[in-house]
Amino acid sequence: ASAAFAASRNYVVQGDIVYTPACGEAKILPQGYLVVKEGKVQGAYDKLPKDYEGWKKQDCRGKLILPGFCDLHVHAAQYRQIGLGMDEALLEWLEKYTFPEERKFSDTAYAERVYGDFAAELAKCGTTRSAVYGTIHRQGAEILARKLTERGLGAYVGKVNMDRNAPDYLCETSAGSLAETERFVKAPVWTDLVRPILTPRFAPSVTPELLQDLGALAKRENLPVQTHLSENKAEIQWVAELFPKIREYPKVYEHFGLYGDTPTLMAHCIHMSEAQIKEMVSRGVYPVFCPESNLNLTSGIMPVRKFLQAGAKVALGSDVGAGHDLFMPHVIVRAIQVSKVRAMDYPEEKALTLPEAFYLATKGGGSFFGKVGSFEPDYDADFLVVKTPKALAERSVQERWQHFIYHGTPEDITARYVAGKQLRLP
Ligand code: GUN
Ligand code: FE
Repeated sequence: ASAAFAASRNYVVQGDIVYTPACGEAKILPQGYLVVKEGKVQGAYDKLPKDYEGWKKQDCRGKLILPGFCDLHVHAAQYRQIGLGMDEALLEWLEKYTFPEERKFSDTAYAERVYGDFAAELAKCGTTRSAVYGTIHRQGAEILARKLTERGLGAYVGKVNMDRNAPDYLCETSAGSLAETERFVKAPVWTDLVRPILTPRFAPSVTPELLQDLGALAKRENLPVQTHLSENKAEIQWVAELFPKIREYPKVYEHFGLYGDTPTLMAHCIHMSEAQIKEMVSRGVYPVFCPESNLNLTSGIMPVRKFLQAGAKVALGSDVGAGHDLFMPHVIVRAIQVSKVRAMDYPEEKALTLPEAFYLATKGGGSFFGKVGSFEPDYDADFLVVKTPKALAERSVQERWQHFIYHGTPEDITARYVAGKQLRLP
């Protein structure tokens, strides 16, 4: 049996391969061969090398073979609230819609249901890797980790920290929040694919004492960090008031060891100075561009071209539930569209192209997980098989890829793989 298992870990997939080894560079192999060995990409080839001729072959001719999508900012606990209260701005939306919804996750039965549905939907959408927020509730966040594992997905999962400026029902004590976080990162739920990430909600929700303790914990246990940064002007002003000696929002995280001392994701990064962008790049911190959320909450347009020109490791995020859509092709399109709007006012900030935005949603964000998001040798074999509507069957591979991103749906994805293993949908 183990020999059969080992054999099934090695195979060749034949189909129309598209991936982006560099930002803006689409590599296209019509009727190419993706060779998978032990869950890793051995190579992507025009012609099958002799060595692999005897390997089990999956015939996906006429279908696209794409890297799985990476969503580097998504709130699983907001899955039930998609589309609600979208006429508010950030701080009002949090108070009126988000906190009351997140409160429900103190109930583990509710967490089981919503997180189960969320994980199934992520898999269906072809989001093979994600950086996910739960709520303050440790048990709920552990359930979230289990649900992602049950689906075979890769993810970083965070138990949220909030010890101030939250309703009583969603506010922890500082000591309790730290203790629960320490317990969470040692919970018996972690695997090679699903791992913990420290998740202070954002600077206004966390006391300086707890930020300090989380920075120390990140360092001691070498844990990655995710939070929100410079999303909304009222929020930025509030942070300046809450931290009067530091004032600058990114400096707050930097001060407490939560800004690139370990791998770090910062969602939004809309309103940032050139100097702040430069500092972010030098610290290797990832800005996560969440265009749908930024439109819905009228937060602003992230100057993504400036970040790219500065050499930032930009990722894309759905930011569900402020974003209304888990399907990353829609986020890719929105990223391109808002960058076009920005380019109308700032022509020197050229709009994103599809091969650029696709890169951000695959290899760009994927790099946070290791060798993920590309078909270069030694990358984890995360890939999707995507069918093309009959009416477009005669088009070039490049055009069919473009069509899928702009007009495709999760139903067009006929199979999803993470680290070489096929995901089973419910
Ligand atoms: N800032 C703090 N919390 C949140 C959240 O849940 N969503 C978004 N978009 N921004 C936040
Ligand atoms: Fe968010």
